[in-house]
Amino acid sequence: MSTQPLLVAHNLHKRFGSVHAVRGITFALGEGEIYSLLGPNGAGKTTTIGLLTTLLRPDKGDATIAGFSVTRQPHRVREIIGVVPQEIALYDDLSARENLRFWGRMVGLRGAALKARVEEALDLAELRDRADDKVATFSGGMKRRLNIVVGLLHRPRILFLDEPTVGIDPQSRRRILDTVKELNRQGLTVLYTTHYMEEAQELSHRIGIIDHGQLIAEGTLDELIAQTGVGERILLTLERLPADFAPERDGLTLMEGVRGVYTDGETLAFEVDDANARLPALLLRLQALGLSVRRIELQEPNLEAVFLHLTGRALRE
Ligand SMILES: Nc1ncnc2c1ncn2[C@@H]1O[C@H](COP(=O)(O)OP(=O)(O)OP(=O)(O)O)[C@@H](O)[C@H]1O
Ligand SMILES: [Mg+2]
Repeated sequence: MSTQPLLVAHNLHKRFGSVHAVRGITFALGEGEIYSLLGPNGAGKTTTIGLLTTLLRPDKGDATIAGFSVTRQPHRVREIIGVVPQEIALYDDLSARENLRFWGRMVGLRGAALKARVEEALDLAELRDRADDKVATFSGGMKRRLNIVVGLLHRPRILFLDEPTVGIDPQSRRRILDTVKELNRQGLTVLYTTHYMEEAQELSHRIGIIDHGQLIAEGTLDELIAQTGVGERILLTLERLPADFAPERDGLTLMEGVRGVYTDGETLAFEVDDANARLPALLLRLQALGLSVRRIELQEPNLEAVFLHLTGRALRE
């Protein structure tokens, strides 16, 4: 991975009427990097992708890709980028092969080159045996895989993938993640958006956390953990969490070594300096409060803890 930035976004803003969807996003992507924008529904991920891929025009700010401005040289930008939209863009009544031919022609491929790229794409999507079936008969995962290879037909230098694994079966998800990693090994730069922590954690060289239209933190996973100072976590799942439970009122937030307490369904998550050292006192305290613990889990600092720390909310699937 070189450090030469391929994409530079500077102070991007976008409003839709009264909604300020993107509020001053600045970041850069090195050539050969996989960067994930991680954020909840409505955070501004798709809008940011729209601005970077010339589908939307920023109200303020600009971005360059390989030195070309998305506002002033959108045609040059489009030659270099591949886009896999969040909403699947395929014709249901065409076969996989026909869809690929159609989209290939749209990006200027003809003749033998078109044919070769289409067959290559079918292999990459592992859809050769279904190549002549109508997309209407495909599973969600198969459509996603086809949608992705459409974005690769013109061999872009950078691929934008907007939540490509939402609502699909685990095998298709696995294939997509492996494909993205393999393409990256071959040199492709990737901007990925997701609200799945594990995907961001597995795939990315760096992660940007986006919330309410702003990038609130970025770095490698280790850097994010260090920046936020999140500790280990003790997850205690209760038999039943009382509806009026309040960690502050019950003094849990003030216990020694406890940096934060969050609830997630019936689970109490304690962020602590040292999980093994703090567990006995926590169990005793819960017992004194009449709460019985059904399950205990200790967790290393992870992206979920970083997100919770930064936003005070869990990022639920
Ligand atoms: N075309 C539009 N017109 C009006 N509001 C919009 C439009 N597109 C996005 N928004 C609003 O902008 C905000 C950011 O939306 P965006 O789609 O960028 O979020 P997202 O992070 O991609 O969310 P999701 O995870 O649900 O896909 C939301 O409040 C959304 O309702
Ligand atoms: Mg979106």
